[in-house]
Amino acid sequence: MVRPTASIPELLLAHRPGHAMQQPFYTDPAIYEADLETIWYREWLYAFPAVMLDKTGAYQRIKVGVYDVIVIRDARGKISAFHNTCRHRGSVICSAPRGRMAKLTCPYHQWTYDLDGKLLWARDMGDDFDPSQHGLKPVHCDIVSGLVYICLAQQAPDLAAFAATVTPYLGVHDLTAAKVAHQSTIIEKGNWKLVWENNRECYHCAGNHPDLCRTFPEDPAITGVAAGGEYPPRVENHFARLEAAGAPSRFVMAEDGQYRATRMPLLDGAESYTISGKIAVQKRLGRIPFTDAGALMIFHYPTTWNHFLSDHSITFRVTPIGPQETEVQTTWLVHKDAVEGVDYNIEDLTVVWEHTNNEDRRVVEDNQAGINSPAYEPGPYSPSHEDGVIQFVGWYMDRMRTAHLPDAIAAE
Ligand code: FES
Ligand SMILES: [Fe+2]
Repeated sequence: MVRPTASIPELLLAHRPGHAMQQPFYTDPAIYEADLETIWYREWLYAFPAVMLDKTGAYQRIKVGVYDVIVIRDARGKISAFHNTCRHRGSVICSAPRGRMAKLTCPYHQWTYDLDGKLLWARDMGDDFDPSQHGLKPVHCDIVSGLVYICLAQQAPDLAAFAATVTPYLGVHDLTAAKVAHQSTIIEKGNWKLVWENNRECYHCAGNHPDLCRTFPEDPAITGVAAGGEYPPRVENHFARLEAAGAPSRFVMAEDGQYRATRMPLLDGAESYTISGKIAVQKRLGRIPFTDAGALMIFHYPTTWNHFLSDHSITFRVTPIGPQETEVQTTWLVHKDAVEGVDYNIEDLTVVWEHTNNEDRRVVEDNQAGINSPAYEPGPYSPSHEDGVIQFVGWYMDRMRTAHLPDAIAAE
């Protein structure tokens, strides 16, 4: 493993705007740890759609770096998150990735917690033992239009501005009326930032994504990776038509660049991400009154990008596993009353993004492999096709500079 020849502040100062990052940002365990501490343990992280916890006691376990978290629905329907670490001697309580529990019982000595984290029972702990001081430690948990977010920080940053921005866009997609039709989890042998860099441009699409390119316009002016306010008349007309139908569509972006929402048209006549270009689900999820509504694309760094269509929705979750390993989980949501085999079939629904994910995995792994060579030198991004990548790297560098550079140097 290549060790950094320079410190993190030196590497941050040496970054050339408009260029890929220096090798250690993609390879070095010390920078990976800094990424976890600076970003992953501080920011709000997308977890999964709330409909995945459809019953009392249903839980999902999420691991981020050294943390292990249980997200669970209690008897009142509230979804909360707790550290998966028993308050007795620290055993994990839930060892399965998901499941359903009436109570949270630790397998080691059977301390038993209520679904809201309160300690209910601990055998023979003596008269001085105070159960109220031994509830499960909470993790910040919030729901934005049916999407569960968690935050591992002691003090969570503001999520309200993000929620206020995207809620009007997501409202018409009725994510609380959804069910999970399919979920895939893949491991990409590449640094998490390479996964994002690849996601934020379609410069690679024509050469790598034959199925996606049947419906997804690779022109950056169409698919909204551009942050400028100028759009071709076709896109302006699309915005006006969708907004008149009650579906907010115009490009909005956080001041610090952490998130963006925009509803962009697909290629002429295309309705959804299918081989035929037609909708994949006859019983549609959401209330947009026509099928050729394009795709509402929302990203929120560092965990998620999403596509919300007129018939179904797809969420993506990024989780770093190691300096050169990243998990990407994809979840296809359809209307809860849509019947498999009648209203949709899994193959037609998922084939385009199953192929696209696999193609993206390959290009990210090739990118990582080439960067690992001592001959790697950061090259320039295309200003027209890769300005989304420049935007992502800018956001990342801002977060790292704020945390790792003294104020006086950061301001220079
Ligand atoms: S470690 Fe959980 S009950 Fe002992
Ligand atoms: Fe791609």
